[in-house]
Amino acid sequence: DIPDFVKIVEVGVRDGLQNEKAIVPTDVKVELIKLLVSSGLSVVEATSFVSPKWIPQLADAKDVLAAIQNVVGVGFPVLTPNLKGFEAAVAAGAKEVAVFPAASESFSKANLNCGIEDNLSRCRDISAAARNLSIPVRGYISCVVGCPLEGNIAPTKVAYVAKSLYEMGCSEISLGDTIGVGTPGSVIQLLEAVLDVVPTEKLAVHFHDTYGQALSNILISLQMGIGTVDSSVAGLGGCPYAKGATGNVATEDVVYMLNGLGVKTNVDLGKLMLAGEFICNHLGRASGSKAATALSKV
Ligand code: HMG
Ligand code: MG
Repeated sequence: DIPDFVKIVEVGVRDGLQNEKAIVPTDVKVELIKLLVSSGLSVVEATSFVSPKWIPQLADAKDVLAAIQNVVGVGFPVLTPNLKGFEAAVAAGAKEVAVFPAASESFSKANLNCGIEDNLSRCRDISAAARNLSIPVRGYISCVVGCPLEGNIAPTKVAYVAKSLYEMGCSEISLGDTIGVGTPGSVIQLLEAVLDVVPTEKLAVHFHDTYGQALSNILISLQMGIGTVDSSVAGLGGCPYAKGATGNVATEDVVYMLNGLGVKTNVDLGKLMLAGEFICNHLGRASGSKAATALSKV
């Protein structure tokens, strides 16, 4: 039985653009966010309050948030790796944040310059500060199936991090297959382990399409009861600290599949495609969405 409604968390503006070498002007990011919102998406991850030395593309985080303060009724979570980032996010008007531990020790060091345990204690500090301000905290776990540095990651390791995030009060926990190596086979094992420690309604899945498995992985996750899916308009993305990771699953492809299944999303595929065309025109590149590419020709 798959859910009647799926919440899509659009991550293209953050997870997608963070990987682009050429700096995208703030007004282009803001226009993209507004186009995504007009398609009906209820959650659009807006940016990250991370070190601009690590991710130069998102150095304008404060300006992006300032420009969308008057857009109401939509969640704009932002990534915060530490209290410094959290405080900057709150000062800039963030109403939702996300922490992002890894299930792999080596990837944690490469992505956050600290190990899993130290990072989880930073996440705990952020969660406590956020609770005082009634700010929901989303927890992302990266490398839930494989790590670019360590290879396969055991589901028990992911379940440990998921349980930690759940216990610190995360409102939602997103399982990130950062390098897109998962298949329905490994995803079933992963979800079985995580569902032992976190309730289904708290979980989201975040697939990258590196090996062409993302839609199959989403379908199997829906069949296991998951009702929240992360995706990226036009399939933008990758990860700057995960060599070879290609884009996130394209939001247009996810919506096309869900429409076909009769699952409601409240997202208008035609309007979503306008957002995809806008950013692909800006980047001067073809869309990573097969559905958008096909539909633009009919
Ligand atoms: P560090 O170098 O260890 O930090 O980086 P530090 O505490 O030693 O400070 C060094 C400098 O950074 C200092 O400035 C700090 O003020 C500054 P300086 O004195 O040199 O001028 N600093 C900051 N500046 C702005 N915002 C901050 C901040 N914190 C310190 N928040 C740090 C540690 C965590 C900051 C760094 O490693 C970092 O920013 N990492 C983030 C990298 C990132 O965003 N990666 C992509 C995330 S995507 C992902 O994880 C996967 C996901 O998409 C899911 C999936 O696909 O699977 C979520
Ligand atoms: Mg990602």
